[in-house]
Amino acid sequence: MATAAILKLLLYLFWISLLFLSGSLQLCIEEERKALLSVRSGFPSVDRVLSPWKGNECCSWNGVGCNSITGHVIKLDFSFRYPLHRGIFSNRSEVHPLLFHLKHLKYLDISGNNLSSHQIPGSIGSLTQLQHLDLSGCWFQGEIPYQLGSLSNLRYLSLSFNEISGQIPASFVHLSNLQFLDLSYNNISGEIPEDIGNLRNIECLFFCYNQIEGTIGNLTALQKLDLSGNQINGKIPDSMRNLLQLDVLSISQNNISGLIPDALGSLCNLSTINLSYNSITGSVVEFFEQLSRCRINKGLSHDLHDNQFSGLFPSPFERLQRLVFLDLGSNQLSDSVPASLGKLSALMTLSLCSNYLVGDITEAHFANLTNLYYMDISDNNLSVKVSQDWLPPFQAVGIRMGSCNLGPRFPPWVRNQTILNELDISNNGISDAFPDWFWSSCTSNLELDVSQNHMRGMLPRSLECFKDVCKLNLSYNNFEGFIPRMQLSDAYLDFSYNSFSGPIPSSLADNAVYMSLSNNKLNGSIPSSVCTGNFLEGIDLGNNDLSGTLPDCFRYESELMILDVSNNKLSGRIPSTLGFLRRLQSVHLNHNRLSGTIPTTLIQCIALVVIDFSWNELSGDILSWIGPELSSLRVLSLRSNKFTGEIPSKLSLMPSLQILDLAHNLFSGLLPPSFDYQTNNDGVTEEGHMLEDDEDGGIWYFSGFAPGFIFGFWGFMGGSSLVLTTKCTGEEAKNGEGERQLTGGWTADSSYAVENMCLCCSIFHSWCFMELARKVSISGSQRS
Ligand SMILES: *[C@@H]1O[C@H](CO)[C@@H](O)[C@H](O)[C@H]1NC(C)=O
Ligand SMILES: *[C@@H]1O[C@H](CO)[C@@H](O)[C@H](O)[C@H]1NC(C)=O
Ligand SMILES: *[C@@H]1O[C@H](CO)[C@@H](O)[C@H](O)[C@H]1NC(C)=O
Ligand SMILES: *[C@@H]1O[C@H](CO)[C@@H](O)[C@H](O)[C@H]1NC(C)=O
Ligand SMILES: *[C@@H]1O[C@H](CO)[C@@H](O)[C@H](O)[C@H]1NC(C)=O
Ligand SMILES: *[C@@H]1O[C@H](CO)[C@@H](O)[C@H](O)[C@H]1NC(C)=O
Ligand SMILES: *[C@@H]1O[C@H](CO)[C@@H](O)[C@H](O)[C@H]1NC(C)=O
Ligand SMILES: *[C@@H]1O[C@H](CO)[C@@H](O)[C@H](O)[C@H]1NC(C)=O
Ligand SMILES: *[C@@H]1O[C@H](CO)[C@@H](O)[C@H](O)[C@H]1NC(C)=O
Ligand SMILES: *[C@@H]1O[C@H](CO)[C@@H](O)[C@H](O)[C@H]1NC(C)=O
Ligand SMILES: *[C@@H]1O[C@H](CO)[C@@H](O)[C@H](O)[C@H]1NC(C)=O
Ligand SMILES: *[C@@H]1O[C@H](CO)[C@@H](O)[C@H](O)[C@H]1NC(C)=O
Repeated sequence: MATAAILKLLLYLFWISLLFLSGSLQLCIEEERKALLSVRSGFPSVDRVLSPWKGNECCSWNGVGCNSITGHVIKLDFSFRYPLHRGIFSNRSEVHPLLFHLKHLKYLDISGNNLSSHQIPGSIGSLTQLQHLDLSGCWFQGEIPYQLGSLSNLRYLSLSFNEISGQIPASFVHLSNLQFLDLSYNNISGEIPEDIGNLRNIECLFFCYNQIEGTIGNLTALQKLDLSGNQINGKIPDSMRNLLQLDVLSISQNNISGLIPDALGSLCNLSTINLSYNSITGSVVEFFEQLSRCRINKGLSHDLHDNQFSGLFPSPFERLQRLVFLDLGSNQLSDSVPASLGKLSALMTLSLCSNYLVGDITEAHFANLTNLYYMDISDNNLSVKVSQDWLPPFQAVGIRMGSCNLGPRFPPWVRNQTILNELDISNNGISDAFPDWFWSSCTSNLELDVSQNHMRGMLPRSLECFKDVCKLNLSYNNFEGFIPRMQLSDAYLDFSYNSFSGPIPSSLADNAVYMSLSNNKLNGSIPSSVCTGNFLEGIDLGNNDLSGTLPDCFRYESELMILDVSNNKLSGRIPSTLGFLRRLQSVHLNHNRLSGTIPTTLIQCIALVVIDFSWNELSGDILSWIGPELSSLRVLSLRSNKFTGEIPSKLSLMPSLQILDLAHNLFSGLLPPSFDYQTNNDGVTEEGHMLEDDEDGGIWYFSGFAPGFIFGFWGFMGGSSLVLTTKCTGEEAKNGEGERQLTGGWTADSSYAVENMCLCCSIFHSWCFMELARKVSISGSQRS
């Protein structure tokens, strides 16, 4: 009997489910169904993530939810979460007005759709039932409509990653049920509304990366607060002491000054603090004291780097066993580091770099750091003193100990760091060669900096067992022998200032971003991989023994910004494909044996800031490739070549030109009138600087310039500036440097080249003087 009853029941259930499946119990409301279809047609990208809507039962459609009794649509999820970097761009969408007929919506998510050039529609304020509204990543522009303030049922509101500007509307204070508010990554400015304190239920407030000012009032329920990347000034307000539930606080990248309030340390629920990139001063000792009194079992993360904390090193480490992340880097701490640091057994990341810390770091400092994963103690005045047979209790992926007095031996304990891929032991007085075992570790993604030591010896012929070298800085050592073959990945290579010899491996530049092999004894020719390297932004091969011609294979796609092959024995012509380098900012071909004319294609390199072709055998006139198109050009040196013809007057039309050196060529004729210094400038005498006539005739000297003056001066001169060369006198001349050419010292920011040139004046507190040629020689003049 019982079985029959069960059978009946099962049959009944089967019927019920069949009814549901066949849709005869239709829930969907016809009007809302039509509205949904119209709304969907406005979001074309959604077709990639939602299956097509079939049938009439809209409540069963993908992305739609209904109230099971009334049948009203209460949920609509059109989120399009395709990562942008996959190259999938969302097609332009429209918000159909029928959306606002779905009055019962509680949940609306259209994040990630492309509503660029639209504003957030104010009509959203009519959807008063909304509890969850996600409009993030929609490229919305304009201001936040005040109507959003009528959504008093809202618990979750995200407008992050749009292009919203203007202020936070005052009407937001009516959102009294709001628990989560995210306005990050917009262009919202102005003060945080004063009565934001009315949002008593708010738990997460993310305002990062806007231009918001002001302070946070009295949000006692707040658990997570992120205000990083704004323009908040002044001190951390004392009212923070009321935020007893606060768990995460990030106010990095603002302009916060003053002391760190002790009260912050007494917020025992606070486990993550990020105050980095501000100007907070004073001591951190009291703060850590407070913190150590809390009895809560959560991991702690304290990111305080890039501030102006000074004074003593905090030390209550016996009681801070929960500390997982500690970054005090780039501050002004000037104490010694207590050995109790070694008790932080939970610590995974430790950075103390770039302070004024003193004293010894011993094995005790690491005694119980068994979880340490990343450490940076570089750039202090510390001495790491551990025994030769020390075995670190941790296995780290990154160890940075630049300037830590590790030498003269290569640290043997590195051998036991089996997962290490980032090692900085630069400037440590190490005079060993690399131990053989070092090259057999073959870790992937190697980032190694051993620069500024006295290391010697040869490298293996191949480092190809290291899968993907990312950074190798061997500069300023005494290495010799060949440059090894390597497998690179967007790598930064710096082999400069050693005694490497032999040829440059042919494919070296293929996967490098930056490559400096300068100041070695390399010979052979320049491999064509300098043209074909896809990511190459800078190459410095200066001061070697390279010969042959410059490869003629540069391409339009190239990212190359800096090219320095100065002081070699290169011959032949300047390749015309050089003109394809549209990003090229700084080109140094000086001190070679290049001949022929300068290719006219050069005028396409409109990003150029510095051209140094001096001391070659270049000839022809300069008219054909120079002109105001090179509107960023600040330095042009053609000194000591065989250029002929007249000096084109359009040189004076070059808007940014500050330094022009044409001396020692075969130019003829007179200076174009636009160069006439005296008619254009009386500022110099007003500034009280001297103008002297040189006895050899025609050369003007300015003397007594204060460092820095040169730029002000040439700014004043505007387009008609003309300098032939700079000389450094005083101390630098005494040091035998004499005339300083426009080479060396540049970085990816090639404007530095210009500044560097004058640095020679300011560093040595002497003065520079400039030769100004009135009559730029003068046919027949000889190269010196
Ligand atoms: C955008 O539209 C184009 C052409 O209509 C289509 O090929 C592409 O897949 C669409 N992209 C998305 C993300 O829907
Ligand atoms: C949005 O659509 C516009 C117009 O089709 C397009 O120009 C833009 O690149 C798109 N933006 C994104 C992020 O897909
Ligand atoms: C940001 O907003 C300010 C005005 O508040 C405006 O001047 C600026 O152009 C905006 N920036 C962007 C990137 O939209
Ligand atoms: C903050 O809230 C507390 C308790 O709700 C209240 O006593 C205090 O006066 C408020 N302070 C401010 C500055 O509004
Ligand atoms: C920390 O937060 C919890 C709830 O999240 C709360 O019960 C507790 O009182 C808070 N602790 C302190 C010290 O305020
Ligand atoms: C602190 O914030 C900065 C950005 O402002 C971020 O780069 C850094 O990773 C944050 N620190 C931690 C520990 O998350
Ligand atoms: C940063 O704060 C200092 C004073 O603490 C102030 O002088 C300066 O103007 C502020 N900078 C900005 C950009 O607001
Ligand atoms: C290291 O930690 C262990 C357990 O966490 C503890 O027993 C030991 O005393 C600690 N040693 C030192 C030197 O702090
Ligand atoms: C480094 O510390 C030593 C003493 O430990 C001191 O003699 C030296 O002057 C300090 N150097 C710098 C640059 O502070
Ligand atoms: C450290 O390296 C030595 C030599 O390779 C090895 O014998 C020892 O087991 C290693 N110890 C640890 C803890 O990895
Ligand atoms: C290599 O190290 C030197 C000196 O420490 C530094 O000046 C240079 O910028 C570094 N090179 C790279 C590519 O990081
Ligand atoms: C490079 O120099 C070495 C000696 O250091 C010499 O044997 C070799 O022939 C030179 N190669 C070229 C191409 O000049």
